[in-house]
Amino acid sequence: MKKFIAGNWKMNGSLAANEKLVHELLDRVGRPSCDVAVCVPCPYLSQLQSLLGDQRLIALGAQNVSQHESGAYTGDVSAAMLREFGVRYAIVGHSERRQHQAETDTNVAIKAKRALEAGITPIVCVGETQRERDEGLTDYIVRRQLAAVVHLVGPCISEIVLAYEPVWAIGTGKTATPEQAQQVHAILRKQLQAATEKAHTIRILYGGSMNASNAATLMTQPDIDGGLIGGASLKADDFLAIIGAAK
Ligand code: PGA
Repeated sequence: MKKFIAGNWKMNGSLAANEKLVHELLDRVGRPSCDVAVCVPCPYLSQLQSLLGDQRLIALGAQNVSQHESGAYTGDVSAAMLREFGVRYAIVGHSERRQHQAETDTNVAIKAKRALEAGITPIVCVGETQRERDEGLTDYIVRRQLAAVVHLVGPCISEIVLAYEPVWAIGTGKTATPEQAQQVHAILRKQLQAATEKAHTIRILYGGSMNASNAATLMTQPDIDGGLIGGASLKADDFLAIIGAAK
């Protein structure tokens, strides 16, 4: 299956920095053998929509979506609004939102459903904290997080992208070893197989300090179908090297 590399800019960027980065990416990306997206802060969607234009090499993504369709939800941005700016992907359930915005498994599942209804592919993030790993709870946590989404979206589960992001590896420079990551990816694949016969077509990304030097090895694992890249997606050289490693 074609690999997928998605950049998660998080709360970084400026009009000037975005323009420079996107121009560098478009100039140098060539013909990547993987799918590529950048998930940017909402205020920059319009800028990115015009910078990315009609080309099909780099797609546009958002970092969150409201669980509501419209109405009195101050500060929220709906899936339909994202769609108007050409958004094709939306990260949902990132651990930073689960932690700082107290998003629950149910919130995340509803967000995934809203995205799907609007024709946006949700990138559903799951992952355990260091403490949960130490207590032997990794499998339980990721399975529980995925189960909520499977339960709500039913057969549409085959249209999501899943991202395994161990919380202890995010922004810490501590990457899961390829074996550690593969072990969890295999568990997730099995869970997807129980939910849909299309499980083999669902891309399961690894995220958490993926960089130019560890990306290739991680992606040789049988169930690692790409990466969700934070810090390294803000530097053209690094992001392009990861894209190049995704064969
Ligand atoms: P990182 O972030 O690559 O900076 O660890 C990944 C993510 O949070 O999506």
